[in-house]
Amino acid sequence: ETVSAEGLYVLPGAIDSHVHFRDPGYPHKETWKTGSAAAACGGVTTVFDMPNTNPPTGTLEALAMKLKAAESSYVDFGIHALFDDSTVATLIDLLDGGATSFKAFVGNTFGNLPAPSDGALLEGFETLAPLGIRTTVHAENSSIMARRQKHLREAGRTDPLAHLAARPAVAEIEAIGRIITLAEWTGARVHIAHHSAADSLYLLREAKRRGVDVTAETCPQYLLLNTVNMLDLGGLLRVNPPVREPRHNEPLWRALLDGVIDMIATDHAPHAPEEKTRDDIWECDCGFPGVETQMPLMLTEINGGRAAITDYVRWSAEAPARAWGLQGVKGVIAPGAHADIVLVDMGRSENLSQYRLQSIGKISPWHDRQVKGCPLHTMVRGRFVVRDGELLEHTAGWGQSIKPVQRMPPARVAHPDTTTRAITEPGAAEREAR
Ligand code: DOR
Ligand code: ZN
Ligand code: ZN
Repeated sequence: ETVSAEGLYVLPGAIDSHVHFRDPGYPHKETWKTGSAAAACGGVTTVFDMPNTNPPTGTLEALAMKLKAAESSYVDFGIHALFDDSTVATLIDLLDGGATSFKAFVGNTFGNLPAPSDGALLEGFETLAPLGIRTTVHAENSSIMARRQKHLREAGRTDPLAHLAARPAVAEIEAIGRIITLAEWTGARVHIAHHSAADSLYLLREAKRRGVDVTAETCPQYLLLNTVNMLDLGGLLRVNPPVREPRHNEPLWRALLDGVIDMIATDHAPHAPEEKTRDDIWECDCGFPGVETQMPLMLTEINGGRAAITDYVRWSAEAPARAWGLQGVKGVIAPGAHADIVLVDMGRSENLSQYRLQSIGKISPWHDRQVKGCPLHTMVRGRFVVRDGELLEHTAGWGQSIKPVQRMPPARVAHPDTTTRAITEPGAAEREAR
């Protein structure tokens, strides 16, 4: 198995820490096989799958079902298990059962999983902090959004911008602030999913300066699209959080360049085309496929001079490898690292087509977009899964759970008053002080 790398760039395979492969539960939207094929063709060699499947990945049974489904994967994978009020007492059991990490739906979205209470968040963070396990948070305030949406629907708003009106940036800012407060107090590692607003960047910047281990991702749609596109695309571009006004795009780019936002993920969220094109915007499912288009979209921006290719490698591979403790194992070209590699042709131009996607959700806001810079060959642990842009179908199942190789460095220390000893040893601190 050889290919010529002449004229190509050899990059670490991308690590997409945010995909919804829908399996088990929604095979008409995506399966592990089709989602991971999309990843492989997109130059992504490791994915982390989200728990809003059916059943949700919050019990050992559901986790076992997901690990079984993932046996057909072309690429390596981590499993974010569900963190909510019903699972918070069993987080360690879920880790023992094969979960790599957790996802908390603090903002309501597809699957309608209830947001964890603030009490459960604090408790879960206390549990995970000593283990160094990072929790990804969908940070939007559900209570703000539920009221707004109710009022908008009662007022008869069904226009493309109604979805944004229901999910204002303040809902995101508030939730991020709350998560950072709880992470700082407990010493837990947290990760902010799909950061979309310019106005909450200061929270990340200042928390990092104080030493809070908060990482953040943004997605191509928040960098490259905005409400102008929403007017054209309507429900097709409906996504949570919503794409925002044009003023948000540039600050997000700057935050990536400054390291305030650490990485690019996609929130790959496929739905069937008919679920994305209903007349009533409130009835259009939120999200769209992304794992397959991230690399060409971002490389086009690199070709355009917005950042260096080394910046892209930091956002697509190095930062997620670091955040989930995979450095030296995969994602970074270094001695002893796995050969998770993508060869890209920076000179190749293409017109993206939703009909050519591997994903079952063949509808995309990127349809008909001109890109320059494309992944050509993808190698997972030393073996090609895509060659000359062609999926090697016999490699389905080559993907492995990254669980056995993950290493997390020790977590930072908690606030001295955070001790759960207060529950079982009343007065312990006072006795020590005497
Ligand atoms: O638009 C979205 N779709 N945002 C999310 O947070 C979830 C995702 C989905 O699962 O469809
Ligand atoms: Zn989310
Ligand atoms: Zn998501």
